Amino acid sequence: MEMNGGNGTRVAFVGSECYPFVKTGGLGDVMYALPRALVREGSEVRVILPLYACISQKYKDQMTWKGSFMMDLTRDGGRFFVGIMELTMNGVIYDFIENREFFDWGNPYTGLWEDIPKYCFFSKAALAALNYLDWVPDIVHCHDWQAALTPVYLRTQFAPTPVGSARSVLTIHNLRFQGICGIEHLKHWSGLPAELFNYDVFLNGDHEANMFKGGLTYADRVTTVSETYAGEIQTDFYGEGLNSHLSYHRAKLSGIVNGIDVEQWNSSADSMLPAPYGREDVLARKAENKLALQRRLGLQEDPGRFMVGLISRLTDQKGLDLVNAVFDRIVEDGTQAVVLGTGDPRYEGAFRRCEEAYRGQVSACIMYDESLSHLIYAGADALLVPSLFEPCGLTQLIAMRYGTVPIVRETGGLKDTVAPFRPESGDGNGFTFDHYRADLLLDAVCRARDVYYNRRDQWNGIILRDMEKDVSWTHSASQYLALYQELKAL
Ligand code: ADP
Ligand code: GLC
Repeated sequence: MEMNGGNGTRVAFVGSECYPFVKTGGLGDVMYALPRALVREGSEVRVILPLYACISQKYKDQMTWKGSFMMDLTRDGGRFFVGIMELTMNGVIYDFIENREFFDWGNPYTGLWEDIPKYCFFSKAALAALNYLDWVPDIVHCHDWQAALTPVYLRTQFAPTPVGSARSVLTIHNLRFQGICGIEHLKHWSGLPAELFNYDVFLNGDHEANMFKGGLTYADRVTTVSETYAGEIQTDFYGEGLNSHLSYHRAKLSGIVNGIDVEQWNSSADSMLPAPYGREDVLARKAENKLALQRRLGLQEDPGRFMVGLISRLTDQKGLDLVNAVFDRIVEDGTQAVVLGTGDPRYEGAFRRCEEAYRGQVSACIMYDESLSHLIYAGADALLVPSLFEPCGLTQLIAMRYGTVPIVRETGGLKDTVAPFRPESGDGNGFTFDHYRADLLLDAVCRARDVYYNRRDQWNGIILRDMEKDVSWTHSASQYLALYQELKAL
């Protein structure tokens, strides 16, 4: 008997990355934090992931072998090995799909030509594993294009099997990546029936097949990670070619904003900080972290100096061309800037050149470094997130939790989570700008800097309000649970 909305709901998460095993961006954070939040609400959650070679031995040593079988995959009847390794952490069960041919390459994403077969295999193996484990979920919750074939397999080849009774949810974390390839390539690797290769399901024009598109057609519900992005993707500008398809399916599309794991991101108990702090002592202690950051990066040691941080994948999505265009103006009054990120060589090079031009004032850390990210979230005064598009964005949420003021463009989840500061009333969570223009970004940075130097009471008010803001998963997890309940009742 169910006690309340969440109790007893069985959910299988299917996705390509999950912190702390493998993470390249926010998807990894969500795959970690949302299952934990659902378990706290009384759900049973299994997370199904590929067993990539890059997963640390420390975790591999904790896994137990659950068994293996051979699975049909390709159109010509090719059969592939599926092994299942399992570990449990904080009440969440993680099942890793083992297959050396597909997952021994190291990093999760190696190039679309190999990634298409890899994720066809994974999307199907996830369902086969659930049947093998004899664990039938109420909901199969799939994430991004890498798991988009799962809802399709669920309603076709797996419909007559035990897992076929489950409902599916497909969450769009980022519509820019869709798993697009030649029609024959997908036909071959998915082994799905030829009749699905039509314009309502997989076809993208006459020559391409699109995995995400097919998943969106077949999923019982589609969600994305903020309400604003749910609206934006139905427009030409943000729709990445799928806007009409999404508008057509809008009755099953909704937006649920992400949260962050407030234990993972907790400035008062963060072992990576030299001076952990809470809301009660942030105004006194934040500066100690800034000083430690300045020391670590070889910047002039001056805790009174305004410092902006940027922690991001360095890609076109993140608005870095705007930052580069006005960088000299941002730092001209001595403002310090710290960039942490990797990605497009164009941006990596541009930030390295900024560091050279402003030694001691600017630091470009072209790397992925979890612990340095914590120190920047704590030590910087403001965090820049001027994205071209941003489905949700987690860095502004982490920043607010650490009392670091976000400077964001009003798009997607940035718009839904950062209320603009209003000088008349002094309320709001950060500094925002609307159109994608470098002069407007610069203006927002200048407004922030002005409040920092000249109206410290108001600045401190923003810090305290941001640290108080609920950025946890609690509210959003209950929205997912309500969605699961609706689907169970169908
Ligand atoms: P996206 O998923 O588009 O990359 P999000 O804001 O949702 O953007 O999530 C980014 C996540 O990745 C955050 O947890 C952020 O701290 C982390 N991150 C991004 N770049 C780095 C980096 N170079 N080093 C450490 N963490 C990073
Ligand atoms: C994507 C988006 C980001 C979002 C994350 C987690 O990578 O780019 O905006 O926060 O997924 O949903």
